Amino acid sequence: MKITKAKYMGFCQGVKRAVNLATESGAGSYTLGPLIHNPQMINRLKKQGITPVDSLYGLKAGSKVIFRSHGEGPSSYNIAQARELTVIDATCPHVKKAQEAAEKFCQDGYRVVIIGEAKHPEVISIKAWGGANTIVIGSSDEVDNLPAGGRYGIVVQTTCTEDAFQKLSSLITDKASESKVARTICKATSERQQAAVELAKNVDTMIVVGGKNSANTNHLRDIVAEHCSNTIFIETADELLSEMLENSKHIGVTAGASTPDWLIEEVINKMEEMQTIGEGAIANIKAGEIITGVVSSIAKDEVYLDIQHKSDGIILRSEMSLLPPDDLNSLVKVGDSISAMIINPDKDGCVILSKVRADSVLAWERLAAAQENGETLETLVTAVVKGGITVDVLGVRGFIPASHVDVHRIEDFSPMVGQKISAKVIELENEGTRKRVVLSRREVLKEEKAVKEKEFYNKIKSGEKYEGTVSRLANFGAFIDIGGVDGLVHISDMAWHRVKHPSDILNVGDKVQVLVQKVDVENKKISLSLRDLQPDPWFSVIAGIKEGQILEGKVSKFLPFGVFVLLENNAEGLVHISEIAEERIDKPESVLKEGQPVKVKVLGVDKKSKKISLSIAQAKHDAEKNEFKEYLAENNEFTTSIGSKFDLSKLLDK
Ligand code: F3S
Repeated sequence: MKITKAKYMGFCQGVKRAVNLATESGAGSYTLGPLIHNPQMINRLKKQGITPVDSLYGLKAGSKVIFRSHGEGPSSYNIAQARELTVIDATCPHVKKAQEAAEKFCQDGYRVVIIGEAKHPEVISIKAWGGANTIVIGSSDEVDNLPAGGRYGIVVQTTCTEDAFQKLSSLITDKASESKVARTICKATSERQQAAVELAKNVDTMIVVGGKNSANTNHLRDIVAEHCSNTIFIETADELLSEMLENSKHIGVTAGASTPDWLIEEVINKMEEMQTIGEGAIANIKAGEIITGVVSSIAKDEVYLDIQHKSDGIILRSEMSLLPPDDLNSLVKVGDSISAMIINPDKDGCVILSKVRADSVLAWERLAAAQENGETLETLVTAVVKGGITVDVLGVRGFIPASHVDVHRIEDFSPMVGQKISAKVIELENEGTRKRVVLSRREVLKEEKAVKEKEFYNKIKSGEKYEGTVSRLANFGAFIDIGGVDGLVHISDMAWHRVKHPSDILNVGDKVQVLVQKVDVENKKISLSLRDLQPDPWFSVIAGIKEGQILEGKVSKFLPFGVFVLLENNAEGLVHISEIAEERIDKPESVLKEGQPVKVKVLGVDKKSKKISLSIAQAKHDAEKNEFKEYLAENNEFTTSIGSKFDLSKLLDK
């Protein structure tokens, strides 16, 4: 394949100058309208910080604004000056000449007639300089509208063809009483057109590169197409496909005046790459290799693949899939890119391929890579077998041992059949006929748990309330799942009363509210409490107990320094050894025994430390005192005669 570039193509001097001026003006500059008709170049300028704007009114004073090669009318210069903008004038010198000619004709009393396209920005700018009466003529029909006998100053759009100019200018001159002509055609356009036509006559394919929004490049394409039936108009190399160049031995390349060199180079490089690939494939294609191609058509029993080779690749139905569907269209579609193994590089001029074999080879390669990288793969559970489950992983049969199915023990795997589960490859054997892949879902779950745990430990705080589910019971407490992480409620934190075993109040699966007591991030331990979210019964029990009150109870426990007495309302209080008897005793057991009923006096109730202090001695003393008082009350005479000599209240206190 030979590639020939047109003698003249790409940026003209005017466009090159405009792009250079814009690039030199640097980031933060603006162009009034897109600088040229090429979207890729405009994007490149935007990346450099040179932004197109539609109007000068939004720009701040001092901003740099570039007037493009098509030129601007006088009002744009006036607005820019009034708004204190710095104008970088990239008007092409040829266009400037046309603008000046129009202005001069107007000043000299001629009506300006522009030969060109009325909507083209260049013509609009020239018209603005030619005064209010300027008229644009684009075809011979429009000349009929021109009043006869006028004084006409004829200016021409720089990109107009010589033929159109000659024809229209002579018609206009014929209608005029007097006329003057400024021949402002730029030869850059005609040079490019002529060079493209010369080339188009000698090649079998012509590539025209340029912006689809460029009138100039569209016109170039039309001219070229008249001389080359396989003319391809593209904006970028990406649009070029190998099938466009099929059977092309000699390719010509041309480009519009607004097409940058780098875009043209990209197109040529791509064609050269295609050539290399094509030739390489022809030279090196071998059975057993895996190649990638694009589905070009689908027949009833085979799929055709474009493999960038002189011949198409063919995949027979049986080689498309292990269980091929009736309609191969349900498997692939035209344009899909698929990999296949070469079975026969040249069978009756075709390359015979197998997708099934390629899939298998690629799957084992993927599995090996997944094992090395610790990648998680999606699998489909296919069956329950002895010792675990089988899965389909990348089209290969894999095995997950029972201990690797979950982090917890699962009794019955059968509900998992048909489910998709994630797993990691933990063992792989792919030697000749020995092929085996062992996976672990547990590893994936452990990783997920670790991630959840990390997130959880970062946010959980003591004093927070959580809803959780009882996940496990132990003798010392219950584990509660509070969002992927288990915390422990110790048996002593389960209730205000004594709990013999967690199962007395909880079952696995119960939903409970818990309070976070302590978080040990380093050791990953969370202490929870059920008890602290329940009202403390001690306070309701002691509600009726007051200091000085005499209550009845039973000795419940001996200590070296006293005894506990269980009161009738189930509150327990301490009688210190010094409060057991009026006389000094060595140990509580010498005067009391467990279960013995006693009367106690409440010495104090400490709500903070939840302690009740009691006294047996004082209760006894109070009882005796009361008895004596009663006795005195009953024996009035004695009280009167003794009372005159003693202070009885002091005697009672003693
Ligand atoms: Fe100027 Fe001619 Fe190019 S007019 S912008 S040099 S095509």
